[in-house]
Amino acid sequence: MAICSKKWGNDSYLIADESDATLQKGKEEIDLALKKMPVVRQLIDQFGKEKPLQGIKIAACLHVTKETANLCRVLQAGGAEIYLCGSNPLSTQDFVATALAEEGVHVFAWTGNTDEEFYECIDACLKPQPNIIIDDGADLIVTAHKNYPEYFDENGCIIACQEETTTGVHRFEAMDKAGALKCALYPVNDASCKNQFDNELGTGQGIVAAIIGMHVLFAGKTVVVAGYGHCSSGMALRARGLGARVIVTEVDPIQALKAAFSGYEVGKMHDVIHKADMIFTATGCKNVVAKEHIPKLKDGVILANLGHFDVEIVAKDLYEAAEGHIKTIRPNVEELVFPSGKRAYLLAAGRLANLALAEGHPSEVMDMSFGLQAMMAEYIAKNRDTLKNRVGLFKVPEEINEKVAYAKLASMGITIDSWTEEQYKYCTGYEEGT
Ligand SMILES: NC(=O)c1ccc[n+]([C@@H]2O[C@H](COP(=O)([O-])OP(=O)(O)OC[C@H]3O[C@@H](n4cnc5c(N)ncnc54)[C@H](O)[C@@H]3O)[C@@H](O)[C@H]2O)c1
Repeated sequence: MAICSKKWGNDSYLIADESDATLQKGKEEIDLALKKMPVVRQLIDQFGKEKPLQGIKIAACLHVTKETANLCRVLQAGGAEIYLCGSNPLSTQDFVATALAEEGVHVFAWTGNTDEEFYECIDACLKPQPNIIIDDGADLIVTAHKNYPEYFDENGCIIACQEETTTGVHRFEAMDKAGALKCALYPVNDASCKNQFDNELGTGQGIVAAIIGMHVLFAGKTVVVAGYGHCSSGMALRARGLGARVIVTEVDPIQALKAAFSGYEVGKMHDVIHKADMIFTATGCKNVVAKEHIPKLKDGVILANLGHFDVEIVAKDLYEAAEGHIKTIRPNVEELVFPSGKRAYLLAAGRLANLALAEGHPSEVMDMSFGLQAMMAEYIAKNRDTLKNRVGLFKVPEEINEKVAYAKLASMGITIDSWTEEQYKYCTGYEEGT
């Protein structure tokens, strides 16, 4: 792929395609998505008037999709300068990157970048000395800690950081425990207005879009779903809704019980894998489907990972086992033939299948996630003096979480009850009883 090589540096971008047709498509897709993002639209208006991010540089490592483009529009409306790279090699929509570059975002992203290029793009976002980092998977913030430790000093540029996904949050919890985290970190993923909607609804629908795009019927199939957390329970529900028989594997007894009481068969991967026509993973763990499982795979099995990194379904093990017998049969679908003669269909080389084979989470759901991200950036900018000296993970303020929920409800024409003073006293007191 021809990359349009612009000058690296503060006022540059690096994208795959600068043609007018690509630019036009990018603009149209971003505008269409915005129509389905009322919370973000409201924030664009508000930020445009109030300019809460004036003078703030934001570095972001996110899936470069049309929804992310609209987050960039809010942040830009607020006055921020934005440096954006893709958080996964296969998740960038190139037409979006082109449109963003034209809108003045410093975007360093294209589909299919190599590991080396991925870190070059990360570096391009860090060099300009950002004040806020918005990450999806922790790579940008972890690299900043390693390569630019001075950014986190008392007079360094970083005020605070935000994280979009579960895997990133886990990495920051580990960093914090080890004393390696040097800034205030807001796990936006953990706000209920994010993970109860984006993770469950987005991933649930995303896997369906990916599989339906392959023209494969769910009904009558056996689907093994690894995990029964936010994403995986959403995938299990949607697969069952389309007529599949779903088997869940878990390592957490409570989540396993929840799956069992929801009517799913629950078992160990080793014991159930041979039954699977499709296997979906979203655990945040590694080696969920690995070398030792290959002999047990059913002929024709579809393997799709939706967890953040490509270590859940171990593509390397599968490629080694099928060496010389690997064929791309459609974009992001490889047919692997093992020495036994059995075939497996691996999606997106074990990377996020919902972003590679479909378009990622629908705009309606990203409206809430990115409403939260934008409001958190505003919060950080407003509280820069106090946050600069804080270290550790801090909850997204409930007031911001609720603001996004109320804005979304209002956009759907829904109003809800609120407590009367008497009800408030009753619910928050202890005097009234039997
Ligand atoms: N594809 C996407 O667009 C998308 C969106 C959101 C999150 N994610 C990613 O999906 C992954 C899961 O996120 P989540 O929010 O659902 O997390 P979660 O913590 O809610 O759920 C993960 C579940 O997997 C279980 N698990 C862990 N190891 C396991 C193993 N070896 N076998 C079976 N189950 C195991 C855990 O017990 C937990 O219940 C993360 O990597 C996250 O970053 C992807």
